[in-house]
Amino acid sequence: MFDGPETATPDTTTTSTPAVLSAAEVVERVRAYLSTNSIPQAQLAREIDLSASAVSGVLKGSYAGDTDEVARKMLAWLDLRAGRGAGATVLPGRLPWIATPTTRAIRTALQYAHQLGDITVIFGGAGLGKTVTIRDYVANTPAVWVVTADPTTAGVGPLLEELALALGLRDAPLHPARLRREVIRRVDGTGGCLIIDEAQHLTKAALEAVRSIHDATRIGLVLSGNASVYDRLHGGSRPEDFAQIFSRVGRKLKLLAPKDGDVDPLAAFFGFTDAAALAFLREKAKLPGALRQIEKCMRFAAVLASGQQQPAALSHLQLAWRELNAAG
Ligand SMILES: Nc1ncnc2c1ncn2[C@@H]1O[C@H](COP(=O)(O)OP(=O)(O)OP(=O)(O)O)[C@@H](O)[C@H]1O
Ligand SMILES: [Mg+2]
Repeated sequence: MFDGPETATPDTTTTSTPAVLSAAEVVERVRAYLSTNSIPQAQLAREIDLSASAVSGVLKGSYAGDTDEVARKMLAWLDLRAGRGAGATVLPGRLPWIATPTTRAIRTALQYAHQLGDITVIFGGAGLGKTVTIRDYVANTPAVWVVTADPTTAGVGPLLEELALALGLRDAPLHPARLRREVIRRVDGTGGCLIIDEAQHLTKAALEAVRSIHDATRIGLVLSGNASVYDRLHGGSRPEDFAQIFSRVGRKLKLLAPKDGDVDPLAAFFGFTDAAALAFLREKAKLPGALRQIEKCMRFAAVLASGQQQPAALSHLQLAWRELNAAG
C-alpha cells in the first residue's frame, strides 16, 4: 500500500486520491491517466526508466516481477505529472527568445560572420543571452551549425566528432584528418556558418582546426563564450602562437552587464511591470549570473504569486530572491 500523491491537481484521474492505495488501484489510475491524456505506454516506460514490456505487463496484470515496486514508481510519476499539470495552469510557459538590446547585438554579430564568411568572437559575462540567441538563430536560419564545447570535447578529434554530428554526417570516419576532409566537403559551398559556443574550452590545436575549416571553405565562424575566449585567442603572453587565428577575427562583441532594456521585456513576460519590481530586477541583474538569476527569481516569484492568487509583485520577488540565495 502506498501513500497517495500530495500535490493538488486539476486532473480528474488524480484529484481524489485517498491517503493509501493498493498496487491495483495505482495501476487503474495510471491506465486512466494514459488514456485521458493520450500518452503511449512507451513514453511512460521511458519516464519511469523501465522496459516497455515490464510496463505493459504491469498494466495488463501479467507482470512476473515486483509489481509493488513498479506501482510505487508509477505513483511517483503520477504525482510528478500532477504537479506539472497544476503548475502549467498558473505558470508562464518557457521563455521564448526575446529581442533586447543585448540579444539584438549578438544576433547582428552572428549575421555578420554568416553573411560575410568572416570570424566573429562574442565574449562576456555569464547569463547575458549568448546561448539562447545562438539557439534561436540556428533554429531559424538554414546552414548554421552549433557545437557546444566542454572539457571533454576541447581537443581536435572530439571537437570534429561533435561537428560531424551537428552536420548530420552519419558514419563519419574517426580519424581526425579524414573527419576534417568530410566536414569540409559537407560545408563547402553552403555559404553557411559554424558556431562554437563555450569556445573558451578549445585547445589551441582545436582552434586551429576550426580556423583551417573556415579558411578552406570561407564559411562564417563564430566563437562565443566567457571573457576568457578573447584572452585565449589573443594568446596571452604568447600572442605569436595564436596570431594566425587572431589576425583573422573580423569582429569582436564584448558583452558587459545587462542593460535595463534587457531586463524589462523579460520581466514583462513574467508579469512584472510595476516600477518597484522593475527597479528590483534591474539591480539584481547587475550581479554575477545576470539575466539567468533574475529569470529563476521571476519564475519562482510567479509561482508564489499564483499560489496566493495575487498579481505578481515586488514582495514575491523579494521572497523568491531570499529563498534562492539563502545567504541573502
Ligand atoms: N532576450 C532573451 N530572451 C530569452 N531569454 C533570455 C534572454 N536574455 C536572457 N535570457 C535568459 O537568460 C538566461 C541566460 O541566457 P544564456 O544561457 O543565453 O546566457 P549566456 O550568455 O549563454 O551565459 P553563459 O556564458 O553562462 O553560457 C537564460 O535562462 C535565458 O532564458
Ligand atoms: Mg551560454
